[in-house]
Amino acid sequence: MRILTGITPSGTLHIGNYFGAMRPAIELQDRGEAFYFIADYHSMTALTDPVRRRQFTLEIALDWLACGLDPQKAVFWKQSDLPEVCELTWLIGSLTPMGLLERAHSYKDKTAKGISPNFGLFAYPVLMAADILLYDTNLVPVGKDQKQHVEMTRDIAIKFNQTYGETFVVPEEEIRGEVAVVPGLDGQKMSKSYGNTVEIFGDEKALRKKIMGIVMDSRTPAEPKPDAEKNLAIQLLKLVAPADAAADFENRLRAGGLGYGDLKKALFEHYWNYFAPYRVKRAELAANLDYVESVLRDGAQRARATASGVLQRARKACGIE
Ligand code: TYM
Repeated sequence: MRILTGITPSGTLHIGNYFGAMRPAIELQDRGEAFYFIADYHSMTALTDPVRRRQFTLEIALDWLACGLDPQKAVFWKQSDLPEVCELTWLIGSLTPMGLLERAHSYKDKTAKGISPNFGLFAYPVLMAADILLYDTNLVPVGKDQKQHVEMTRDIAIKFNQTYGETFVVPEEEIRGEVAVVPGLDGQKMSKSYGNTVEIFGDEKALRKKIMGIVMDSRTPAEPKPDAEKNLAIQLLKLVAPADAAADFENRLRAGGLGYGDLKKALFEHYWNYFAPYRVKRAELAANLDYVESVLRDGAQRARATASGVLQRARKACGIE
């Protein structure tokens, strides 16, 4: 089984990225052939600063490796090291109906917000389909916001196979229910573009301040809260604390008598401890960038061994080779 996922370097990674995609992907690296990459071509629709793109790309490489991506098990590369993906984008894009792309949530959300769309934003799902199809992917671990993109990939693969003959593997998404949408500090989906994130790695003081600043409901904190499970701090605590500790806080909030300050303090401490070992690993990696670059170079080579065969198959199928 081939497992593939990507993360866009358009900002600093947050715990929504970690629990929604990275942790499932890291667990899956023992269950099949793992192919994980940094989607720097995708970042071009959101970011036009080359220095920051380079910096975010390197930081995401450090984040993945620090959190447990094992380059002995997983193939790990930078998307743009295989420009083959752009050729495949054209081959499949030429069969992709405009109507399909017009229905994409991410495109609709961005245009609704007044962002004037360019070709890249419109074609984004086709590039993502090319990422997935180029490696004969079976399974794509992602958060819920990417579900539609994987569905579109399936539609595109099926259409290509019907038009040119059996060429692509038709993939499935894997979305873990409890972390499908990790909420941000304002209760909306946590997102690099909403300014509501808890970063995986960052400055202790600033992160403590962010977490202590979560706005709760206006009822007196010590009052019983029958809907304790809906409390944002409780939801986040369940991700970073041992199950019994999180359940204890939830019960205390439900029964009354638990102050919000104590709850947020516990959330910060558990969050900080959860990532402590990864923080140490990340500092080691940051002092050894040659190693990190060699991992990506080697990954690109290994990725190409698969990609070139699939691309050749697709070119042959449509009569350009
Ligand atoms: P990106 O960079 O926006 O997000 C990376 C991964 O993190 C997940 N995620 C979340 N999961 C749960 N709760 C949240 N609040 C949350 N926020 C983000 C996303 O669902 C995603 O899995 N287009 C993709 C990158 C990409 C890709 C691919 C993914 C490019 N090609 C091929 C899979 C396969 C993106 O921008 O993800």
